Amino acid sequence: MNGIASSGNGAAPSVNGTAPNGTVPTANGIAPQVNGTAPQVDGLANGVNGIALNGTSSSLDGSPQTIFDAIATRIPSRAALAAKLMMKYRDSTVHEVTVENIMGGMRGLPCMLWEISESDATGVRHHKQSLSELEASLPKWPGSTQMSPEAMLWFLYTAQIPTSAELQGFAAELARRAELPSDALAFIDTLPKNISADSQNIMIYTFLGKYSKFNAALARGISKDDLWKHALEDALDVIARSPVIVAAVYAKANGIAQNAVPFSPAFDMAHNFARYIGKEGDNDFIEFTRLCWAFYLDHGASVSSHGMRLASSSWADPYSSLAAGYIGATGPLHAKAIGDSVKFNLKALAALGSDPSRDEIIAYIGNYISEKKIIPGYGHALLRVRDARLEILRRFLDEHPSSDPQARSLLSLIRNMNECVPELLRERVPGMKNPHPNCDTLNGCILHAYGYPSDQLMLFFACSRAMGFMTQYVWDRALGLPIERPLSVTMDELLAKVQS
Ligand code: MLT
Repeated sequence: MNGIASSGNGAAPSVNGTAPNGTVPTANGIAPQVNGTAPQVDGLANGVNGIALNGTSSSLDGSPQTIFDAIATRIPSRAALAAKLMMKYRDSTVHEVTVENIMGGMRGLPCMLWEISESDATGVRHHKQSLSELEASLPKWPGSTQMSPEAMLWFLYTAQIPTSAELQGFAAELARRAELPSDALAFIDTLPKNISADSQNIMIYTFLGKYSKFNAALARGISKDDLWKHALEDALDVIARSPVIVAAVYAKANGIAQNAVPFSPAFDMAHNFARYIGKEGDNDFIEFTRLCWAFYLDHGASVSSHGMRLASSSWADPYSSLAAGYIGATGPLHAKAIGDSVKFNLKALAALGSDPSRDEIIAYIGNYISEKKIIPGYGHALLRVRDARLEILRRFLDEHPSSDPQARSLLSLIRNMNECVPELLRERVPGMKNPHPNCDTLNGCILHAYGYPSDQLMLFFACSRAMGFMTQYVWDRALGLPIERPLSVTMDELLAKVQS
């Protein structure tokens, strides 16, 4: 069973069920050891396939590990858990599927295995830690007071808090991987300016698929046990390159020379990004970038994450999988709401001025409700309480107030509207399950206040989601998760089932 699955539907046996010869299934070929010492994974100290890796060395004595070693250490226990679930509990019922689950966009159906976070109506936790707990416990980049996306990524991959040395080694490794191939930069420069930044982004990821080390390894023919290592090679490249892609699209639109200030291992991603786009002097912007990229990395089975996962379950390479998920992000019910919210708030500012009364806000929003228009930044597909990410953004604003009077007016209007709109929505839209503002009410507006172009806001945030998803991509391969293939059902079939 080693080697690339050759069946047409890509059905790797692994976690998905009984192996064809009737033997007990294992998670990606790693022998399960449910009640004992975790099995060893080969070649930890030597990195991938015995090739010495960039970055810090592996050690059991507390000295810094590489990300490869830290993940390899975690795989046996997770593989053992996967095997236990599939062997001992494979027929246990977790949830009864209701008609509402099926007709209602699979809401409430716990059916997507997702290792890097737990998300429910109250918010997201990563490996059982809330965002505020992680803010307190993760090491910060030297000189920064904000969460570090690199530290958060390390934690998502490994469920371990990195040491400061591991954080710096990891950031340096990413910076070393950041450079875009010259033909990719040339490709970006050939993209017509009348194509949206989001479309450009999608095309750039698909273009970069030709550099996928995962694809190259598949073409060579590799053991399924090693898939995760090749996935991780790509994942680290993708994480490192995603901010460069955003910067390159920004640079092109703003007439800044490409790669004039390449990413340097001396800086973290946020600082490197700011240098590339000519914002190195703006420390608040760099801090905001760190914070957003850290807390926006993952939110469970959102449309974009689910889209990426769906594509990646067929072993589409990481670059192509990201492009698939990004397309889902371009809808107004998902990440397009970031830009739509900026437009909505700017329009409200023009109509209401900076300090409207409560009655004026209610009359203004009431018209939107009467006309059944979307109010961007309010409600949520999953959350039923205030969005914890919004609280983080508000605190950042309190600590880093904008010096621009127009931006201050906009941000204060948003705060006022956030107070009145939920009550109004509760009264006037009785079916709405969550009238609270979510992080999209504010995130794009803060970025806008830093002078960021409104047509590129989504790229900035989606870059974080792309980086976060790479973690899950690697774990999908490490656990040998199968291709996604739910059963589809017609309404007639549904009716027949419930009536029988
Ligand atoms: C997200 O973070 O992706 C959004 O809040 C949407 C979601 O979680 O479904």
